[in-house]
Amino acid sequence: MAGNTYASNGNFKYGHLSELEKDIERLELGIKTSQNLDLFKMRINIGNHIIPNSIASLPMEGGDSTEEGSPTELTYRKYEKIARGGAGLIWIEAVSVTKEGRSNDKQLWITEENWMEFKKLNDLIKLSAKEEFGENHNPITIIQLNHSGRYCKVNGNKNPIIATHKELLDNKLGISDDYPVVTDDYLRGLEGDFLKAARLAKKAEFDGVDIKACHGYLLSELLSAYEREGEYGGKFENRIKLFINVIDKIKEDNDCQGLLLASRLNIYDGLPYPQGWGVSKENGIAMDLEEPKKLISILVEKDVKLISLTMGNPYFIPHINKPYDIGDYVPDENVIISCNRLISGIGDIQNTFPSINFVGVGYSWFRHLAPYVGAGSLENGLCKIIGFGRESISYPNFARDILDNGEMKKNRVCVSCSKCSEMKSKISTCGCVVRDNEVYLPIYKEMKNKEIK
Ligand SMILES: Cc1cc2nc3c(=O)[nH]c(=O)nc-3n(C[C@H](O)[C@H](O)[C@H](O)COP(=O)(O)O)c2cc1C
Ligand code: SF4
Repeated sequence: MAGNTYASNGNFKYGHLSELEKDIERLELGIKTSQNLDLFKMRINIGNHIIPNSIASLPMEGGDSTEEGSPTELTYRKYEKIARGGAGLIWIEAVSVTKEGRSNDKQLWITEENWMEFKKLNDLIKLSAKEEFGENHNPITIIQLNHSGRYCKVNGNKNPIIATHKELLDNKLGISDDYPVVTDDYLRGLEGDFLKAARLAKKAEFDGVDIKACHGYLLSELLSAYEREGEYGGKFENRIKLFINVIDKIKEDNDCQGLLLASRLNIYDGLPYPQGWGVSKENGIAMDLEEPKKLISILVEKDVKLISLTMGNPYFIPHINKPYDIGDYVPDENVIISCNRLISGIGDIQNTFPSINFVGVGYSWFRHLAPYVGAGSLENGLCKIIGFGRESISYPNFARDILDNGEMKKNRVCVSCSKCSEMKSKISTCGCVVRDNEVYLPIYKEMKNKEIK
């Protein structure tokens, strides 16, 4: 499916909302629209925490840490802009819980030595938001804890740590059939690593921790480790074991009391059984949400009340994960169909668990019409919070514009060109090349020049 060329489908063609609505009707999609943008002003109460509006800035890995995993000026700059932009929920990008679990040498990594730098980051977010919107404005900050699994890199080289073989993904990464899968002992040890990282996140005063189980990283891969032997593979209870054990450990730990327990969770991998999670066992890559729902009901029992849902694998089928107009292949479906999969699939889950706060995704591609699509989801109960990924780096003020001005500006929105993703995969450091071009265009150009040489 994936090729080497940079291909454009040129799909986004909607100037006015009515044109989009016509297509939604013609294609019989589950996407809803509404012009009641006041819905974004709804506050969300979760235990002692209050999210001041229904807009989330989703995690966007910037690949800009020091070698030791601490934030740098680029990291602080990005989050200060996001905080000043007004999103009520600020979901910090993937932060590794171990050295070898990093996606690259510039991925954030929280340790005993550098947690104060993370506190500085959290303080900066909280202070900047207050300066901008007043003392009472307190965005909720969630830090995403992760082990990159098969997508680990060391010194710029791939260093996959896999829980199970998956033919399609192995082939793409050049992993041979005899490449070792990680041991149960290693996985058991990770339970402690996640706990340690959560304690540090608490010390750094983040409001909550996300135990990340999406996008094909280690915990996500385990969810579909049907063919793995031992205590973390095979039957459902084993495949969710590491994830659930981590949640239990954090929930019961004295030092972690008060932390909001959250997760970014794949509900559909888009890979055929037995390589994918949330897929039918009989019917190709058709979605089957039975197991994801079973897992979510367990998470709910364990007091996980904030879940950011997502789909796909950005390294293999990025169009399912982040619908785009320009990328390295032309998907075999219209972009709006990819958005519909995210929005409607998440809607199905929200309908099943009406009291849980699910963060939706699939909105950035709608550009200036995204507020109406987001409001449609809120109005129709398809999720409780509208999450934006790429808009957070292309247009950090998007939330303020929705809330105060009832619009997202055409000349500020993400154009889904995939240049940030290209940077992420090639040099790790990434940002918006189009709308934050003073900083990221020179980095992008340097990367391209090196490719030519
Ligand atoms: C450059 C880049 C970095 C990303 N980093 C993360 C990450 O650290 N953690 C995560 O869960 N998702 C990450 N994502 C996925 C986004 O959070 C989001 O799910 C995706 O972009 C689709 O949302 P959008 O259409 O609003 O952009 C990243 C996406 C991009 C393009
Ligand atoms: S580089 Fe900017 S405009 Fe292009 S996809 Fe990334 S965020 Fe959007």
